[in-house]
Amino acid sequence: MVRVTRSSASGDGSTVTGCPARYDEALGYWVVDDPALAREVLLDPQTFRPDNAVLAHTPLSVKALRVLSGVGFALPPTLANNAGESHRPIRAAVARFFSPARVAAAEPLTRELNTARVTAALRALADCQQVDLVQAIAAEPPALVVLHLLGLTDVDVPALKAWSLDSLELFWGWPDEDRQLELAHSAAEFYAWLRARTTAARKAPGDDLFGVLVALGLTDEEVCAVGYFLLIAGQETTTQLISTAFQRCLDDPGTTVEQVLQEASSVPTWRRITAEPTTLGDVDLPVGAPVLLGLTGHGGPADLAFGIGIHRCLGAALARMETQVALDCARDLLSSVRLAEPPPMIDLLSFRAPAQLVVTSSGHKAV
Ligand code: HEM
Repeated sequence: MVRVTRSSASGDGSTVTGCPARYDEALGYWVVDDPALAREVLLDPQTFRPDNAVLAHTPLSVKALRVLSGVGFALPPTLANNAGESHRPIRAAVARFFSPARVAAAEPLTRELNTARVTAALRALADCQQVDLVQAIAAEPPALVVLHLLGLTDVDVPALKAWSLDSLELFWGWPDEDRQLELAHSAAEFYAWLRARTTAARKAPGDDLFGVLVALGLTDEEVCAVGYFLLIAGQETTTQLISTAFQRCLDDPGTTVEQVLQEASSVPTWRRITAEPTTLGDVDLPVGAPVLLGLTGHGGPADLAFGIGIHRCLGAALARMETQVALDCARDLLSSVRLAEPPPMIDLLSFRAPAQLVVTSSGHKAV
């Protein structure tokens, strides 16, 4: 019998059996949690197009849209949302930054960044201070490593982290109108920065991400759209995977990266939309049906967490390496601390992880 578990985004974690794909009224998607069916969908991008991959889940207010249009914000099809011909050359150009050799070469830097942060955290804990493991260890190394791989210097990393979280909430969250406005200002600031870097690359072409995309003949909007997606997906998702791995290691020190990917990855769902009426399992889907695929926590393989097929994550090896190194470096620390408070969660349609992990030395009384 096929077991279909409700998406974690739907909240109640209840289990439905015998129903391979079902329309979730509250979410507004056809939820497909059976790993075999999710795989079938991902391997048929003609029928299940990726056009809705980066659309705002909560419709944006006129005020928020006005803020975004003020900087010419646009996300034309480039990578994850591109069903067209241009996907292949853009993907190939971006993939070169994340070749196996480049990922392997980034390991010593990753280790150095993590070791320094773990050492500082251990010092603070020895001083009886509480430490947020997300901020202190998981947050910055993935950003610093992806910027290094993309050849980007002079980037304000705390700003990039804030822009990333804000944009994830704007496009995958449930913000009300006031919150949308705040988030739209942040997304517009990020986009204006991307535009400035694009303009600079046109004037003085280099071999960093922007230089390569400009040389590929992309429009300004396409360059900005790749930069927007990659600079968020290329680090915040990994920070979140590391955060969940840390949380799990607090309970079970033997937790592995593969277990976390399989059971509680940072990108629990991903979207598709039907190009024509079709059948999935024994369920008929109409044309234009938005589909929400469960990628983790439903008994599928760990690798499903990165998608499958022509849109498979370009950063899978990098994310695995960075999470493994973070665990290696923090393993001893994790065995000597305990949570000081229940962790607040990032809980969006397609992103889930602890937002903070405030710990105290096990020798000290928890709050
Ligand atoms: C734990 C970390 C990560 C997770 C769970 C994750 C997950 C995903 C998922 C589910 C997709 C969509 C796959 C599909 O549509 O079939 C995707 C696409 C993508 N990811 Fe990741 N990702 C992570 C880290 C990264 C990193 C570190 C990078 C860059 C270095 C990256 C770059 C991309 C790109 C460029 C795409 C779009 C590929 C395309 O459309 O051709 N991701 N990722």
